Amino acid sequence: MTFSDTLRARLETAQSVCVLTGAGISAESGVPTFRGEEGLWKKFRPEELANFHAFIRNPDLVWEWYAYRRKLIHEVKPNAGHYALVELERRVKEFTLVTQNVDNLHRRAGSKSMVELHGNIERSYCIDCGAIVEELDIDSLTKAPRCVHCGGLVRPDVVWFGEMLPREAFSRAEQAARHCDLFLCIGTSAVVYPAASLPYTAFDQGAFVVEINRERTELSTRAHESLLGAAGEILPQLVSCFSHQEGNTP
Ligand code: OAD
Repeated sequence: MTFSDTLRARLETAQSVCVLTGAGISAESGVPTFRGEEGLWKKFRPEELANFHAFIRNPDLVWEWYAYRRKLIHEVKPNAGHYALVELERRVKEFTLVTQNVDNLHRRAGSKSMVELHGNIERSYCIDCGAIVEELDIDSLTKAPRCVHCGGLVRPDVVWFGEMLPREAFSRAEQAARHCDLFLCIGTSAVVYPAASLPYTAFDQGAFVVEINRERTELSTRAHESLLGAAGEILPQLVSCFSHQEGNTP
């Protein structure tokens, strides 16, 4: 892909970069996205699976769905897009990766400065005493797990519909969006708020906003540059345009 001179100049001089990713960055690893013809929400009903009341009504069904997704995620690997963001973190002075994904692939690729806005499918916690459950043998689950401390129901540590985002995580994300000079919005339909507000926050503060997506989204008309294509192909090229900055390990 050929980048415009304006974009190249912005990439070369960016000092503080904030990145927002969505399900599209993991699509090339084989993780299904949520929306669109092949999306999870075409086959499954979020109100039965990603909602606290549904969990209380039928915890075993909700766990079956999370066990299925965890198994799928364990079988795939991070792709060139995830690794390009690890390289970008090495190159720029200030870097924050904000992800809506719960699949842990950014962490497995090696990203460090990360904010997980919608939680992490690998973690769980007790809805009664709040104990965090790190290791859960999900393959042997036939029923919703119970807390070893108090016997309460254990739930996945992910944000469901109707729930607030973890306060600290969102405030870190907003802070990064407010202070960056370059904002990259990658593989997200940019329709789920408050995550979808972040590119606009960056925009309002004068950052240069670049979108990478296979399709046009609601953000495309506002973004300074909208790069159409696969994140795993575009990101490695884009990241190679950033120069290594002082203080960062090449
Ligand atoms: P979506 O499924 O809504 O959007 C995925 C986006 O990725 C679409 O715009 C696709 O065009 C794009 N895409 C697909 N493959 C791509 C590729 N290889 N390279 C670049 N772009 C690609 O997923 P999200 O925007 O992440 O929330 O959805 C946001 C939230 O809605 C999720 O975090 C989840 C969901 O309900 C919760 O579970 C709380």
